[in-house]
Amino acid sequence: MAKIVGGVATTHVPSIGKAIAENKQKDPYWSPFFRGFDYVHYWLAREKPDVAVVFYNDHGLNFFLDKLPTFAVGAANEYRNEDEGWGIPVARAVEGDADLSWHIINTLVADEFDITMCQEMLIDHAVTIPLALMWPGGKRHPVRIVPVSINTVQHPLPSLNRCLNLGRSVGRAIESYARDLRVMIIGTGGLSHQLDGKRAGFINKPFDKLCMDKLAGEPEALTHYSIHDWVAEAGAQGVEFLNWMAMRGALTGQVTEVHRNYHIPISNTAAATMVLENRPMPKRRAA
Ligand code: DHB
Ligand code: FE
Repeated sequence: MAKIVGGVATTHVPSIGKAIAENKQKDPYWSPFFRGFDYVHYWLAREKPDVAVVFYNDHGLNFFLDKLPTFAVGAANEYRNEDEGWGIPVARAVEGDADLSWHIINTLVADEFDITMCQEMLIDHAVTIPLALMWPGGKRHPVRIVPVSINTVQHPLPSLNRCLNLGRSVGRAIESYARDLRVMIIGTGGLSHQLDGKRAGFINKPFDKLCMDKLAGEPEALTHYSIHDWVAEAGAQGVEFLNWMAMRGALTGQVTEVHRNYHIPISNTAAATMVLENRPMPKRRAA
C-alpha cells in the first residue's frame, strides 16, 4: 500500500528562480532562505519519496480569470512549464503519475468534492520553484508529481476548513492506493504577503508565527478565520496558506514538526519553509 511519509511547505516567490539561475544561494540576501533547505535535503534523502502531491495555486499560466476552478487535479504523465514573464528560465517538464491522479480524483468525487480534472495542465512557478529548491542542481526530479491547484486568486475562495478537508480526502485516497509508493505532500505559497494596492509589502510576523505554531498539532484552530479575516491578517496573497492547510490535511497519521525556517523578506514575502513528519497512528488494542 502507499505510505504518506510527510509534508513540506514552502514559499514560491519567482525571484528565487532568478537567484538559482544566477547561483546566488550564498549571497547575504539569499543565504538565510536557502540555508533553510539543508534540512529538507537531508530529510528527502532519508525518506526517498517516489511521488509528491503538490497543493499550489496557479497564477494565470494554466487558468485565467475567465475560467477558474476552485479545485483542479492534474491527471497527466507529464507537466510542462512556460514563460510566465518573471524573467526566469523555463523549467524542465516534470513527470506525472496519472494512475495515482485518477485514484485521487475518484476518491475526491466520491467524497463529494466537485473538482476539475485536467489531462493537460501547465505548471507555474508555484510548482517549479519549490521543486527546484527541494532537488537543486537542475537534474531530473526524482519524484513524479500529482498537482492539485486551489483557487487563491479570484474571490470567492474556498474556506480554510474546506481545504483542510480536501487534504484529508487526498490523504485517504493515497492510503487506499494499492501500489507500494512512498508519497510526500507539498504545500506552496505564503506566508504573509501582499503584492499590490495600498498595503503592498504588508507582512505580519506574529500571525505567521501563529500559523506555523498551529499547523502540525492544531490546524483546526486556524479554520475559525474567514477568508476576509485572513486577507486582513496575512495580506491579499497570504491566502496562499490554503495550500498549506490542504497539505496538512493530507497527513493522516501522527504529525510532528521537524523543521521550520522563517525569513523576512524575500521580495515582498515572509518566506517560510516547514517539514512535517507523518507516522502511522498507533493501532488501538481490542478491548
Ligand atoms: C511574489 C510572491 C508570490 O507568491 C508570487 O506568486 C509572486 C511574487 C513576491 O513576493 O514577489
Ligand atoms: Fe504566489
